[in-house]
Amino acid sequence: MSKEIVVSGIRSTGHLHLGNYFGAIQNYVMMQENYNCYFFVADYHSLTTHPDPKLLRPNVFRVLAENIASGLNPDKVTLYAQSDIPEIPELYLMLNMLAYKGELEKVPTFKDKVRQQPDNVNAGLLTYPVLMTADILIHKAVKVPVGKDQEQHLEMARNFAQRFNTRYGDFFPEPQVFRFNTDAVKIMSLDGNGKMSKSENANNTIYLSDDDDTIRKKIMKAKTDSGPTAPNAEMPGYIQNLFLLMQLTSTHEVYDHYRAAYNGCNIRYGDMKKQLAEDMAAFVRPIREHAAELQKDEESLGKILKAGAEKARASASATIAGARKLIGISYY
Ligand code: AMP
Ligand code: TRP
Repeated sequence: MSKEIVVSGIRSTGHLHLGNYFGAIQNYVMMQENYNCYFFVADYHSLTTHPDPKLLRPNVFRVLAENIASGLNPDKVTLYAQSDIPEIPELYLMLNMLAYKGELEKVPTFKDKVRQQPDNVNAGLLTYPVLMTADILIHKAVKVPVGKDQEQHLEMARNFAQRFNTRYGDFFPEPQVFRFNTDAVKIMSLDGNGKMSKSENANNTIYLSDDDDTIRKKIMKAKTDSGPTAPNAEMPGYIQNLFLLMQLTSTHEVYDHYRAAYNGCNIRYGDMKKQLAEDMAAFVRPIREHAAELQKDEESLGKILKAGAEKARASASATIAGARKLIGISYY
């Protein structure tokens, strides 16, 4: 039986963090054996914020290195840079003709960006979900491992696929969000304000490149309060987030110990954070060290991207040929 096709991308807009790891990369790693995986660095997507051209290359290489250091094996999955696949912008152009201004303006991530960068509301931002759809449909993927924040984009991808199929004939499958554990992991920032992010709130986000001391400092400063006042009290979001991080990185015993202390109203957050900081540092350390090692050898990283691009283009060009034919673009 042929393996199901999987696509996912990470924007090269900064250092990867625990949200990227637990929301996306961990799922990639678990999928690499049993699926036909295409994972890419979304460098075109990063252009919406006009990054310094000098930063493109180091940013792309870092995302690639951090993915490999997290456990992705370039021999098992196709790893590439989005901009190496010209068929993606071609499909994006075709799909743009089926995407409407009104629906794009309603997308919450677009509205957020309008608020964040009112002086740069470019068409690329508006059509971001269309480019993302092209990324997915170019390989006719059926499963897309992404964090909770991307679910709406996936719904749009299904709409655009359907619209293409209705107009031109059945061609694209409707891609679905995929996760191994059904609970969507969303890692909040350590001050409890919003999610961990590559570009905002750096002091409250733990990056895969943070050293042990930085991790300790950030965790010790994480927001807590004077503790629960009644047994089995409901947890505020920022405390829930600390417990989630502990569940993801500490042992069961440690987690259960602090959970029981919380429920019994005798938790000491200082102790909990100290423990979490050590477990987190031990968790991130091998990834950081491996990624740093990989980034020293740009030639090898370049080879991985080149080999990935060749494999990805073989699949992409077959899709584009089929789409052109259905649309009626075939003149000689
Ligand atoms: P981005 O950093 O926005 O390019 O996201 C890359 C992947 O990481 C996507 O699948 C996101 O859903 C996921 N992701 C980003 N931030 C978080 C977060 N704080 N919690 C969980 N998943 C996240
Ligand atoms: N939009 C995604 C994010 O911000 C990144 C992305 C771009 C992506 N293209 C994709 C994810 C295709 C999955 C599939 O996280």
